[in-house]
Amino acid sequence: MPLPNLSVNIAGLRLQNPVMPASGTFGFGEEYSRFFDLNLLGAIVVKAVTLKPAPGNPPPRLAETASGLLNSIGLQNPGLEVFIREKMPFLRRFKPPVIVNIAGKTLEEYVELAERLSEVEGVAALEVNISCPNVKEGGVAFGVDPKMAAGVITAVRRRTPLPIIAKLTPNVTDITEIARAAEDAGCDAVSLINTLQGMAIDVERRRPLLANVVGGLSGPAIKPVALYAVWRVARAVKIPVIGMGGIRTATDALEFMLAGARAVAVGTATFTRPTAMVEIIEGLREYLHRNNINDINELVGAIKV
Ligand code: SIN
Repeated sequence: MPLPNLSVNIAGLRLQNPVMPASGTFGFGEEYSRFFDLNLLGAIVVKAVTLKPAPGNPPPRLAETASGLLNSIGLQNPGLEVFIREKMPFLRRFKPPVIVNIAGKTLEEYVELAERLSEVEGVAALEVNISCPNVKEGGVAFGVDPKMAAGVITAVRRRTPLPIIAKLTPNVTDITEIARAAEDAGCDAVSLINTLQGMAIDVERRRPLLANVVGGLSGPAIKPVALYAVWRVARAVKIPVIGMGGIRTATDALEFMLAGARAVAVGTATFTRPTAMVEIIEGLREYLHRNNINDINELVGAIKV
């Protein structure tokens, strides 16, 4: 049997396989490149980039929970100029498309980020972060209201030729409404879910474990919620869905693809197993082989209900 096809098309990009890091858990790739060859990935998705450098929230900003991780990083990053000057030369060395997650405090900031990044060699697509729960301005504020979500995507769409992926929050009543608004506004794909809002308390000190009091929950604890959201969104929009939320294994990734995701992102799992994505890619190949499936695209949305 010939080698099964693992490649997928997302937002006009051809990915050699459907596995990529979840933004925010992968920095700018430098640290992970010491553990495995980044050329093995389907795409490289980097930490959110803001217009100005951002120090992030005060510590503590991580707290472990049962099967999960709460974070309130607050979009810490070196800012657009340093990203372009110091991070992009490293990222350009690799073959997989580089997807840059952008986050603005205002609509104008999203537009400026999109315009500037459109001129940067090696930037293949923009993931518009309208779902970060850890900042006072922007972030999730744009992602909980269909009109505001559409407003950002429309404005960014007008100013960039790059493919746009809207990263959606689960902290809404109906995520399909936001997904449809983003699609109608011209985005090329949606990625979901970002973290679920949560908190944890130190009972001895009677204080929140996070300095920011609340944070975003990720990890295996949120997988069923994420899978359900992906399943619903995949049936509500025509554009491709990138699924994420608690993926640790090839079986997890397959669940998301059967639910309708054309690609998957792996985040929290890489903190304890930096090579998790490589293992997942191998596991997908092995599953296709074992089940005599020639093309991974056959699995997308193939759940029998
Ligand atoms: C953060 O930096 O606070 C997390 C990123 C996100 O949730 O988008």
